[in-house]
Amino acid sequence: MKMTPIAVVGGALAILTVIVLLMVVWPYATTDYTPSEIYRDRTEVEQAGFKIYLQNGCVYCHSQSIRSFDWGHGAHRIAQAGDYIGDRPIQLGSARTGVDLSQEGGEHPDDWHIAHFVNPRYTRPNSIMPPFAWLGDERIDTLTQYVQSLGLKAADKRMQRQRYWKQESIKAYEAGPDANARWLAEIVPQGWRDLPNPYPTTKASLQRGHVVYQQFCIGCHGPVGDGMGPAQPWIYPPPLNFTILKGREISGGIIYYQLMNGITGTAMPYFKHELESQKIWEVGDYVAVYFINDSDANKEPRGIDAANEP
Ligand code: HEC
Ligand code: HEC
Repeated sequence: MKMTPIAVVGGALAILTVIVLLMVVWPYATTDYTPSEIYRDRTEVEQAGFKIYLQNGCVYCHSQSIRSFDWGHGAHRIAQAGDYIGDRPIQLGSARTGVDLSQEGGEHPDDWHIAHFVNPRYTRPNSIMPPFAWLGDERIDTLTQYVQSLGLKAADKRMQRQRYWKQESIKAYEAGPDANARWLAEIVPQGWRDLPNPYPTTKASLQRGHVVYQQFCIGCHGPVGDGMGPAQPWIYPPPLNFTILKGREISGGIIYYQLMNGITGTAMPYFKHELESQKIWEVGDYVAVYFINDSDANKEPRGIDAANEP
């Protein structure tokens, strides 16, 4: 066959048509657009927030898809095709410089997100996420509503829980330090309340606790533990002023449990995904020794001494 211009152009077009049919039209026609059990349409505000998400390239650092071999943030749900039918374009993402956000809705209450968008270092002292304070209050609010919708119906359930506990925590906070300290202890299951910190206080453990405190807590609870970190103006109930716990015999177990699970409804996050057990005990002891001035580290009741104990 002679390579006339018509044969070259016609041939190229034919090949292109086959590729488009195979790679675009066929998958589009055969994809299942049945909504998954968590699917619902987004509200108008949430859609507006989705636009801000698109415009600011959040997808370059955040995925929205959990696969069966993923762990950690958002891993409580494996993504399904039917979760995405309302998104144009879908923000699956291919990078996870930040965390996966497919189930971010209800992970934190709104005040945490607002402080975090204003400056991620406020709630996460060593975050590399850029600050978005320049978006202004209104757009930060809109973006927050979108982020709180990630996970759709599942997120709505988590948000309902956040709202319920937010009211409870505000009631306790507004009733004064005595009532608040009591409430904070009573939401912890009894077994944990009786448990002293099993690690002894040592110079090394306090130094390690200090490092964890600087990396995870200082933005809210502040360098001297009075709750006046830079996130404080955005957060309500405000970050706990640890000095109100003086003389109240707060056990190591209470602090451990709160750090592990967070306090739903308040901005206090949970750390069980990212801090291993020893770090939680040691930052807890750091808080107990320096801010509450009362540590039960390695006190009775205790079991057999562990091999690592001096
Ligand atoms: C340069 C990369 C980068 C960009 C761009 C970025 N993020 Fe992040 N993001 C991160 C990192 C890293 C973290 C984890 C540390 C932290 O919490 O700040 C994070 C955390 C988050 C979290 C908190 C997750 C949690 O519950 O702990 C949310 C929500 C979030 N980003 C939303 C956004 C949104 C919305 C945008 C766009 C407006 C965005 N991010 C842009 C890197 C980025
Ligand atoms: C985003 C802000 C924020 C960060 C980060 C944060 N906290 Fe909190 N923390 C709070 C808030 C808010 C409360 C609850 C205040 C209230 O209900 O009065 C709280 C409560 C607590 C309590 C409960 C005390 C009790 O009596 O039960 C402990 C302990 C605590 N935080 C320790 C820490 C430690 C240690 C870290 C770091 C690993 C940390 N927090 C990180 C905001 C934060």
